[in-house]
Amino acid sequence: MTQPDFSNIKACVFDAYGTLFDVDAAARHEKEALGENWKSLSDLWRLKQLQYTWLLSLQGNYRSFWDITEDALQFAMKANQISDAKLAARLMQIYRELDCYPEVPETLKTLKEAGIKCAILSNGDMDMLQSAVDNAKIGDYLDAILTVQDVSIFKPHPSVYQLANERLNLPSEAISFQSSNGWDAFSAKDYGFNVIWCNRFDQPDEQIPSAPDHQIKTLNQMLPLLNIKA
Ligand code: LAC
Repeated sequence: MTQPDFSNIKACVFDAYGTLFDVDAAARHEKEALGENWKSLSDLWRLKQLQYTWLLSLQGNYRSFWDITEDALQFAMKANQISDAKLAARLMQIYRELDCYPEVPETLKTLKEAGIKCAILSNGDMDMLQSAVDNAKIGDYLDAILTVQDVSIFKPHPSVYQLANERLNLPSEAISFQSSNGWDAFSAKDYGFNVIWCNRFDQPDEQIPSAPDHQIKTLNQMLPLLNIKA
């Protein structure tokens, strides 16, 4: 298969949760309170959060990502027989300021210095995204933060990906989209972007159309694909 040419990319658009920001960070910070099952609780929290975005979108309903994240946490805590309102509040507070993955700031800085526009395109609410960006100190490298709030439907609805074309004023050929979520990477490719799947968690290929152009393990590995020196 011929790979599309990534040397003419004008903008890099990033998924937020799991790609820039560590979705396990909240539960990891509260490891002691959550006990030895903290990771499986974190996984269930994330799974239910995503499921609710898809279910609500299919229903034609929309709730803020903050509310969905809280609902998913309730489910995950109940499933683990944990009833602790203060712990839930602490987990949600940390979710607002999730750590970013270690290579993220330097990768964004290098892209920016190479003249590439950088943006976030996420299911997250603007205030959640802004506080995670501020906490990670990556705001200076970003040209735009784009949220599904503006279309009131979640990924992978095409109208979400279209926000990047509209707001960056660029055709899909000039955009490289990065996500660590396989379903998001496959769907963004199906939409028409050039796509790099940052497969941090060694997930198998999704069995849906359409396969991303490249797979990497950490975001800094995208630089050579765009002919940019790290
Ligand atoms: C996001 C989720 C899908 O940031 O990770 O959009």
